[in-house]
Amino acid sequence: MSDTFPVSDADSISVADQPMPKWWTRLFTLFVLICPFYLLYFHTGAPGRSEIERYERVAFEITKKRFAEIGELQPTRATILEYTKKPNWLKVGKMVFKTHCVSCHGRNGEGGVGPNLTDDAYKHVHDIEDIARVISEGANNNAMPAWKDKLSTNELVLVAAYVASLRGTHAPGGKAAEGSVPPPWDAAPADPGAGDGG
Ligand code: HEC
Repeated sequence: MSDTFPVSDADSISVADQPMPKWWTRLFTLFVLICPFYLLYFHTGAPGRSEIERYERVAFEITKKRFAEIGELQPTRATILEYTKKPNWLKVGKMVFKTHCVSCHGRNGEGGVGPNLTDDAYKHVHDIEDIARVISEGANNNAMPAWKDKLSTNELVLVAAYVASLRGTHAPGGKAAEGSVPPPWDAAPADPGAGDGG
């Protein structure tokens, strides 16, 4: 062994000094040299180049294409109700909720600054349409902000459908119920002529 490789001998322990092959150390040096450029390019100076930005752009394109499939939804009772039954679209509503609403309504809608959206009681909602109206217009002097200028109509309808779907899921750690209990979402809408004694 000592014929082929230089040997150091300290404290009577002999160590064969076998260098890494030249191709290996060159490759290693090359990677170290490339490293700062890689970091700069993908993580800082190059807008639109990071994986996250690419992901967001692609996700946005896909959502736009999918929105083309459904056209412009209207925030009506029938439409919101219809979309509470479409799991794939509820996922889009959930994304909107996770982006804009969790800070006040909690990760699962259990409430925080804003009311619990997973119980059966509501302060401003008597019918499923009211969910979209409150989201659009806001409530209580903007304690609940108005979202009409920040969300597209489709996003608004889909997040309303998602919020409607949270009803009765009773997320753990939920805030105490506030307000009154409206009829089930799919109950016939209140007949304005009913109860007039006729
Ligand atoms: C800055 C905090 C805040 C954010 C962000 C926020 N909310 Fe609210 N939200 C509130 C508050 C506070 C209320 C209750 C207002 C009141 O007391 O009258 C409320 C009420 C509501 C209600 C009516 C609940 C009821 O009991 O009648 C709905 C529905 C609702 N928010 C949905 C949303 C959705 C969907 C989003 C995201 C797009 C959102 N909120 C974002 C604070 C917020």
